[in-house]
Amino acid sequence: MAILRSPSLPQSAVKSYCFSARLPTPKFFAAAMKMEEASANAEGIKDERPRKIFVAGSTGKTGTKIVELLLSKGFGVRAGARDPEKARISLPQNRSLEIVRSDVTEGSGKIAEAIGDSDAVVCATGFRPSLDVFAPWKVDNFGTVNMVEACRKKGVNRFVLISSILVNGAAMGQIFNPAYVVLNLFGLTLIAKLQAEKYIKSSGINYTVIRPGGLRNDPPAGNIVMEPEDTLYEGSISRDQVAEVAVEALQCPESFFKVVEIVSRIEAPKRPLKDLFSSIKQK
Ligand SMILES: NC(=O)c1ccc[n+]([C@@H]2O[C@H](COP(=O)([O-])OP(=O)(O)OC[C@H]3O[C@@H](n4cnc5c(N)ncnc54)[C@H](OP(=O)(O)O)[C@@H]3O)[C@@H](O)[C@H]2O)c1
Repeated sequence: MAILRSPSLPQSAVKSYCFSARLPTPKFFAAAMKMEEASANAEGIKDERPRKIFVAGSTGKTGTKIVELLLSKGFGVRAGARDPEKARISLPQNRSLEIVRSDVTEGSGKIAEAIGDSDAVVCATGFRPSLDVFAPWKVDNFGTVNMVEACRKKGVNRFVLISSILVNGAAMGQIFNPAYVVLNLFGLTLIAKLQAEKYIKSSGINYTVIRPGGLRNDPPAGNIVMEPEDTLYEGSISRDQVAEVAVEALQCPESFFKVVEIVSRIEAPKRPLKDLFSSIKQK
């Protein structure tokens, strides 16, 4: 599969460099990469790495960080927002960013239009507290299910979901964990998320479900710890690190068809995200 290919320099470029006494310039590397692309196309190999990403919940605290990181890494972004005018103020101005109106409760047809020509989706939505006790179920369950259906309609086969640790708290013996109790008191939030995860898993779409601990807005204070599903029941993590994990998942086959739980810990060793994903077994 093309995604497994590492971006090596083409032989012709390497040879021509070996016969030159000068150090390679940035121009040299750019030309070499172009030649590599051209030779891949000539071989009829399709580069399947996603290039344009639809981000649902782009105006949220985590969603905004995901959009910013994607743009900084050269991805095109379609940012789904309920209020595009507001999003234009809060999101960065960037030529690679399109802001599109999208409410995940409005059904898969409209979401499919919003997804447009994106080739992967990151879902960072979460209900906003309101008087509507069904809001968590509408957004965190039906909304995510609508997103999966929209992907099916568009033939988009890559879905990264920001979920939460403790979604399966009851099965983990954490039914009296205060976080599990409180979050489910608000419209069964964690149960809604767990049901949405189950839907994604059974959809056949290539998913990565990221379950962070409590989210912090401050910069990372420790290193990322990644565990398999239904392992962590406490801990927190910076939203910057959640964005890093989500963006890496888009680029890293080791994350395919996996559910991972993440927190950060001061004493944890710093490990490449690819290695962390590799350490989690597919179920
Ligand atoms: N807070 C925590 O400690 C914690 C811990 C673990 C996991 N999580 C989960 O992590 C995710 C991100 O959390 P966060 O705190 O960064 O989120 P957030 O700041 O609350 O943002 C939520 C996002 O969801 C969007 N949204 C809400 N209803 C929507 C709808 N009907 N259609 C489309 N978009 C909608 C909001 O859009 P508007 O701007 O238009 O309202 C906003 O962009 C959530 O799923 C959350 O449950 C949170």
